[in-house]
Amino acid sequence: MTDRYFLTTPIYYVNGAPHIGHAYTSIAADVLARWKRLDGFDVFFLTGTDEHGQKVERAAADEQLDPQRFADGVAADFRDMADRMGISYDRFIRTTEADHKAACTALWQRLEQAGDIYLGDYAGWYAVRDEAFYAEDELVTKPDGLRVAPTGAPVQWVREPSFFFRLSQWQDRLLRFYDENPDFIAPPSRRNEVVSFVRGGLHDLSISRTSFTWGIPVPGHPGHVMYVWLDALTNYITACGFPDTDAASWRYWPADLHLVGKEIVRFHAVYWPAFLMAAGLSPPKRVYSHGWWTVEGEKMSKSLGNVIEPRELAATFGLDAVRYFLLREVPFGNDGDFSRRALIQRMNGELANDLGNLAQRSLSLMARNCGGRLPARGEETTDDGELLASAKALPPLLRAHIDAQRFHDALEEVWRVVRACNAYIDRQAPWSLRRTDPARMAVVLRVLADALRILATVLQPFMPDSMARMLDQLGVPADHRRLAMLAHPLPDGTLLPPPQGIFPRYAEPA
Ligand code: MSP
Repeated sequence: MTDRYFLTTPIYYVNGAPHIGHAYTSIAADVLARWKRLDGFDVFFLTGTDEHGQKVERAAADEQLDPQRFADGVAADFRDMADRMGISYDRFIRTTEADHKAACTALWQRLEQAGDIYLGDYAGWYAVRDEAFYAEDELVTKPDGLRVAPTGAPVQWVREPSFFFRLSQWQDRLLRFYDENPDFIAPPSRRNEVVSFVRGGLHDLSISRTSFTWGIPVPGHPGHVMYVWLDALTNYITACGFPDTDAASWRYWPADLHLVGKEIVRFHAVYWPAFLMAAGLSPPKRVYSHGWWTVEGEKMSKSLGNVIEPRELAATFGLDAVRYFLLREVPFGNDGDFSRRALIQRMNGELANDLGNLAQRSLSLMARNCGGRLPARGEETTDDGELLASAKALPPLLRAHIDAQRFHDALEEVWRVVRACNAYIDRQAPWSLRRTDPARMAVVLRVLADALRILATVLQPFMPDSMARMLDQLGVPADHRRLAMLAHPLPDGTLLPPPQGIFPRYAEPA
């Protein structure tokens, strides 16, 4: 039986256009999904859009559009962004779809039957920007005296009839769950944050709203729509077929990983497992929270006019360079700063020089001196053996890093080998061996071809198009590109297509 792997991105609010922050989460998740497929897993990769709630309702009103029509437009734009960034999702879910509404209704009824829901009145603070309720003592006072949410979002006082979820009853069970599942929240700094939040005591959570209508109706209670976070989180089980737990797709639940930004950990690591446990369902296995990007040292915002459009960036620099940069520049989990200069530096230094030139030099020597065919493997020297051993060690090393979401460490390991290959080619100087010892030249080029094949294979999830081209040029057939196929050497004499540069250098337009 093939091992299954279910991973998700957050579903994005459709109140505005996609930007680099959204693309970042999706690209990281995509690398993981592609890696797992490469490693033989049966992967289910879910992304989509979060379309209900006051924030979207207001954005639609600003455009004088009916919320559904407005959501249709922005959701299509998010989907286009995902497609153009090479996101290999298996389903793009929208919370306005019929199966999702049915799943939310069923989950609500289960929570109600379990006795975890009661009707009351909510009086407290709400931030529409965060779609979150805040307790009095969580608010912060700005220098001008204005009180805002800890995220900086404006808050309003809300008083309305509301259903509540008995979150306060789940404190001990959640703490026990975190204790028994030390890897449930990562990185550790976020885990500590969540644990101390829960230790501090939990209030019951308002899970319905009555002051607007753009949401999923509470079953049996017209006038109430479900709180948008209860609705949104449920998408992860809708996609697995809930409430039909006999459906074939239910085999993917519980999720192996919810990848989220640091601002929404509480929803995923506190509310979501509590809802699920209350409904008698298993909680997800892991929630990983990554950091935030600033742009050239500033917070990204519409008013500053520095919002980065991922599709434009890919059009300028090439999609793979952007994907590579985002995962290489900043240790995953930390905050980072996006700068054009840093992107160009990595693109020209690490992609064009280190990897691109290595491939180009090796492939053109084979084209010119080996009749355009893969040379035969020969007797290995210690130098050859050491280089090949370091390349062969990559798949297990990367498996460990990627399973722990250490994408930057994975890339660092790969570049260690890229640099070793460059040192090897300079040491062996196959261009001089051509005259002095052509047999040895052929062996050296074959060692390089084998090492490059491993590099290109393990880099496919990060840079799918460029690595597909590199594998084409190395004569690796399409059905030989999984990790398991690395155990099968390519036949000597395989015909190689004419080499072509893969990573162009970028020069700023004058
Ligand atoms: N709709 C909710 C999520 C519901 S999941 C059940 C939501 N949507 S969002 O549109 O605001 O997208 C949030 C996600 O976008 C964050 O979790 C984060 O992954 C990503 N980012 C948004 N801005 C970002 C940066 N500036 N930097 C990095 N990622 C950021 O929250």
